[in-house]
Amino acid sequence: METGKLKRTLSGEINESCTGSEFNLKGWVMHYRDHGGLIFIDLRDYAGIIQIVFDETVSHESFNIAKKIKNEYVISVTGKVRIRPEGTENENLETGKIEIEAKALEILNECEVLPFQIEEESDTNELLRLKYRYLDLRRKKMKDNLIFRSKFNFLIREFLNKNGFFDIETPFLTKSTPEGSRDFLVPSRLNNGSFYALPQSPQLFKQILMVSGFEKYYQIVRCFRDEDLRADRQPEFTQLDMEMSFVEQKDIMSLAEEMFAFIFDKLLNIKLNLPIKIMDYDDAMEIYGSDKPDTRFAMQLNTVSDIFKNSSLNVFKDCLSKKGVIKAICFKNGADLLSRKDIDELLTVVKDFGGKGLAWTKVAAAEEKSKSDKCSAHNAESIYIQKCRLEGGIAKFITEEEGNILLGRLKAESGDIIFYQADEKKIADMVLGRLRLYLAKKYNLIPDNKFNFLWVVNFPLFEYSEEEKKIVAIHHPFTAPNVEDIELLDANPLIAKSKSYDLVLNGEEIGGGSIRIHKPELQAKIFEILSIKPEDARLKFGFLLDALSFGAPPHGGIAFGIDRILMLLRNEDSIRDVIAFPKTQKAQCPLSDAPSEIKYEQLRELGIKVIEKDKHI
Ligand code: AMO
Repeated sequence: METGKLKRTLSGEINESCTGSEFNLKGWVMHYRDHGGLIFIDLRDYAGIIQIVFDETVSHESFNIAKKIKNEYVISVTGKVRIRPEGTENENLETGKIEIEAKALEILNECEVLPFQIEEESDTNELLRLKYRYLDLRRKKMKDNLIFRSKFNFLIREFLNKNGFFDIETPFLTKSTPEGSRDFLVPSRLNNGSFYALPQSPQLFKQILMVSGFEKYYQIVRCFRDEDLRADRQPEFTQLDMEMSFVEQKDIMSLAEEMFAFIFDKLLNIKLNLPIKIMDYDDAMEIYGSDKPDTRFAMQLNTVSDIFKNSSLNVFKDCLSKKGVIKAICFKNGADLLSRKDIDELLTVVKDFGGKGLAWTKVAAAEEKSKSDKCSAHNAESIYIQKCRLEGGIAKFITEEEGNILLGRLKAESGDIIFYQADEKKIADMVLGRLRLYLAKKYNLIPDNKFNFLWVVNFPLFEYSEEEKKIVAIHHPFTAPNVEDIELLDANPLIAKSKSYDLVLNGEEIGGGSIRIHKPELQAKIFEILSIKPEDARLKFGFLLDALSFGAPPHGGIAFGIDRILMLLRNEDSIRDVIAFPKTQKAQCPLSDAPSEIKYEQLRELGIKVIEKDKHI
């Protein structure tokens, strides 16, 4: 049955003011209810849902066609808008006060039995969702996420175009870019035995564009990294990549802040408080045990080594004698929340984080007081001396004097629980930092709907990699050292700091960048420290080194992880939920079945022989 020549209207465009008018709608059948002489359908298009009524007495023909309909059939309906009878309104639908009285109906396509229901509430296994991603993307939440993503990208472009940036594409079939992961390689048919690397980022090309004089570059670009996957990592992910010439670190940071303020205002109607707070890398590690602190809740790390310099506890004594540190966190009101069993379980958690053990003490009222009569949180130690004491765990090894200073420093009150780590500073910080996050998540200490941005700056230029047994770059080898630290490069490179900056949102690293080295001599020096031989440097980055020698301007930039930002803005736990076609943890695509074996002929053309896994070449 033809549904007529009326132009299609979206459900979201129809409201009560349209009552009496006729429209044509097209979409999918979401719900189907047969009430004898009346059939009700909820029709879904990308703009929303609207109820259609097929009444035998209004259109016998469309009523008969409607009887054949099943869920997710694609239909075209023409009918008149009417107000729903009193008491039948649906408050959950934007169009819940109206319905369409159908006059004509066409079935445009049928639908097989569904592997899962499209209903929002239905809890479907993720593998199945990814296999039938086209069905999963029909769900409102997923559709809203991707439409949000589209608007987000549009606003980035609007802001950067207004600020004089050029959108320039860079190659995917290229040479390896050193961002610290493994490369995905692509064999070359025309150059047997040679491989392209998919870019881990457009780092080298964007620097070269600065040498060409573009001055303000950006690109919303896919990057490829073959690394172990987690909820916030994908083998291919999207960056907003930017680079600018003749700028200082502060210029790049403030431009990024203005961009986020613009997007938050337009997209979320949230006014960001600028400037965003800045924290030194050393402070972030000392206070939060992480270079991406989640500042939405406190529970900060405290160094308490000095308090325990004469401790009778062997673990503390041994640690301090080996130049280690003792650090502690205070979990407010944790004593009542955590049973003995919970504390024992935390020991396993801490060992997974790389800790050797977990010392703890509870804080109790010193005198017999009711639980509501809490110790004061003031700084004055005297108050704690009178009102609080440590109990349980290692309390018997802590003198009254040590305990009092500790309680004062941690501002601990009765009902709190204190956890300690005695270890090398790096390990103690890392373990307590992770325990802090673990406790916050498990015991719901993180407030909802908060967006805490933070810049972390002054990263070390290098670190020593135990795994590779050599010095490696913390960001990438093109990051400029702080000018005053250049002279340290020969004597003590590991304490040199860099002109780099990471942007953190709610404890996730959402972006990172740096001022670059623009002089070939300094770049060569950095390669030398990284044990990259001049001939290897030429082989890998010769084209960049050459470019730097042809009048490279001072330049710097940043890249933001768009998937991660969207995951946070949409309150999702995984970046997979903001990507149309993501890969699984095993880097597979259940929809297309990639990666898959290829035919022998194809391999032959490429000059490639596949060897059995684990067999020596
Ligand atoms: P970096 O390696 O820090 O910097 O990457 C920038 C941002 O990209 C995001 N990100 C990822 N997102 C999802 N999955 C991944 N596997 C993944 N890896 C990184 C993070 C990160 O902050 N060329 C430099 C930038 C520069 O110096 O300008 C770079 O790529 O949010």
